Formats: sequence, structure tokens, C-alpha cells
Amino acid sequence: MTKLLVCGGAGFIGSAFVRVRLRDHGDEVTVLDKLTYAGRRENLADLDIDFVHAGIEDPDAVASAIEGVDAVVNFAAETHVDRSITEPDAFVTTHAVGTWVLLEAARRAGVRYLQVSTDEVYGSIEEGSFTESSPLAPSSPYSATKAGADLLVASYFHTYGLPTVICRGSNNYGPRQYPEKLIPLMILNALHGDPLPVYGDGMQVRNWLYVDDFARGIGHVLAHGTPGEAYNVGGPDECPNLDVVRRIIELTGADDSLLTYVRDRPGHDRRYSLGSEKVRALGWEAQVRFAEGLEETVAWYQDNREWWEPIRSGGYREYYARQYGASIKD
Ligand code: NAD
Ligand code: TYD
Repeated sequence: MTKLLVCGGAGFIGSAFVRVRLRDHGDEVTVLDKLTYAGRRENLADLDIDFVHAGIEDPDAVASAIEGVDAVVNFAAETHVDRSITEPDAFVTTHAVGTWVLLEAARRAGVRYLQVSTDEVYGSIEEGSFTESSPLAPSSPYSATKAGADLLVASYFHTYGLPTVICRGSNNYGPRQYPEKLIPLMILNALHGDPLPVYGDGMQVRNWLYVDDFARGIGHVLAHGTPGEAYNVGGPDECPNLDVVRRIIELTGADDSLLTYVRDRPGHDRRYSLGSEKVRALGWEAQVRFAEGLEETVAWYQDNREWWEPIRSGGYREYYARQYGASIKD
């Protein structure tokens, strides 16, 4: 049993991680989360945890939450590339200042620190896969600020000897993902008979990772990772966006005519691909193939309308109108 401070644990991946830790490891968990538009207390409903409502950039809240824990796992982030293009401010505050506040608190308390990061810090790759020694070449304000956070984490290992590890995941999907991201957005639009907005030619490739596989991978790195190192955790399958959307149309029984090509994202990364040999050497293996996981994910959204209906009828509508209004005419 480990005592964990899980920052950003009310979000999509953080809440899956907390569930895995309570179920499979019997850990004692405190979640610290700012509850931004993407964070939801309901994601942790019925789980036996302590909850602190605060931002990671708040030094007093962090100092008191970190007391007595064995490790900090930091998921807290602004996570949507499109929002980072239109409103980068919170990305800089949370990823740069927030990560620094957490690292300082971990250094003072002398606790292990795991930073949850992304394949997007490496930029786009035409062929082959990124390894942990690939140069960081981020393209968007999201990935640039995540890369900055990774460098800050590495500096706390090199400068102060803080036992840090970094876990870089590829694109996650699964239950409880906020419907601004490709897969849940397309599922909910398909269920409503709304247009399915494909950016550019739809041939961008993502390396899909089921959320529980990432949660278990992070656990492996926390338990067995070498301090100062980074570990890639990539999904077992790659798929162009257009194929993902076509498969969602089939699984939901939606009409093909909903597929709508819209203006491309500025600076859009063409392909992500992660080599995960290093984390495999720690004993991790992805368990869910994309075809199976996508089917389960569609079924989860079909069966859990009470989770997403309040989101879809709330502030999300304004976001959606801002982001897609000009390019989609119903
Ligand atoms: P999410 O948007 O679903 O959740 C983010 C959580 O962080 C929310 O609960 C939010 O309230 C919280 N948060 C945001 N700013 C905060 C702050 N300043 N202080 C405290 N809490 C704050 O994101 P997610 O998809 O679960 O991603 C979690 C982490 O995994 C992020 O660090 C992200 O960069 C990384 N990641 C995500 C993916 C993916 O495909 N979603 C892939 C690889 C890595
Ligand atoms: P997204 O889920 O935003 O993840 P990321 O940009 O971090 O990879 O997008 C996944 C891919 O889907 C990406 O190539 C952009 C594309 N996309 C669309 O084509 N339409 C959409 O409405 C969204 C949200 C994404």
C-alpha cells in the first residue's frame, strides 16, 4: 500500500488511474484537483479517497496536501490542443508554474515525483517511432508547455536529486473522456445525428492507447522506473482519423453523410508513434487492442448518457459553437 497524492485525478486519465490503484493495489489516495471544465467530482464518485479542491499552482494547498504521502503523481493539465491555440494562458500557468510549485513541494517533503506527459512533446514523425532519446520538438502551445514541464522535472532530478520519473503516453481513449477530443466528440455527434467534423484530409495518424492500459503503465513506472528517466507508454495500434470516424459511424449506426471535412487545425501534427520497449522491459504490456477498446468505448457512451448529457448541454455548447460554428453549417 502506497500513499499517493494524485493531482488532476478528477479528469479522464487521472480518475481511471485512481480506480486502478484502489482496486488493484489498495493504495491510500488524496486527489488534488482544480475542477476546471474538464475535471468532475462525479468521476470519483463512490471511491474512498480524500479530495482537495485546489490548483497545483497554489503553494499552500499543495504543501498541506503533500504531507505524509510517499509519492506525487501529476496528471493536472490543460489537455486540448485546439484550446491551446485559441487560449494558451492557462496552459502556461498550469504546466510551467503549477509543475514548478509541485516540484518544490516534493523537494521540501522529500517524496518521489511522477510527471504524466505526452508523445506530443516529440512533435510529428513521418515514419518509425519515437524513443525516449528522440529530441523534444513540440508544435502546439499544449505540447510546448508540456515539454517545458518535462524539462523542469528533469532539472529537479539533475540539480536537487529529487527522485523523478516521466511517463509519456500516446493518445488515450475510453470512458469519461471529455467530448472535445476526437473519439468522444465523434461518438456523441453520431448518436445525435450531428455533423462529424474531420480536420483537413483526415489522414493524420494517432497511436491509440486504452486508458486503463495507460493507468497500469504509469503504475509500472512508479513502482519500477529508474529515477531521472522518462518512459514512453504507447498504444498497440495506429489508425488514421478517417478510419476512426468511419468505424464510429458503423458502431453507432449513424448516417455516412454526417462525415464533414472542415478547415484543418493550424500546425497540425501529421503522425504520432511511440516505441515502448523501455516500459515493456519493466513488465508492462498493453492489454486492449484498438478495435475492441473502441467498441467498448462506444458502448460506454451509449449506456452512460447521465455522464455526458449535462456536459453537452452546459458550457461545452459555447465552446463547440466557437470552435466549429464557422466551419459547420447544419
Ligand atoms: P483531462 O482534461 O480529462 O483532465 C485534466 C484534469 O486536470 C482535470 O480534472 C482538471 O480539473 C485538472 N486540472 C487542470 N488544471 C489544473 C490545475 N491548475 N490544478 C489542478 N488540477 C488541474 O485530461 P486527461 O486526458 O485525463 O490528461 C491527464 C494527463 O495526461 C495530462 O497531463 C495530459 O497531458 C496527459 N496525457 C493525456 C493524453 C490523452 O490522450 N488524453 C495522452 C497522453 C498524456
Ligand atoms: P485530439 O483528440 O484533439 O487529440 P490530439 O490532437 O492531442 O492528438 O485529436 C485527435 C486527432 O483528431 C487529431 O489529428 C485532430 C483530429 N480531430 C478532428 O479531425 N476533428 C475533431 O473535431 C477533433 C477534436 C480532432
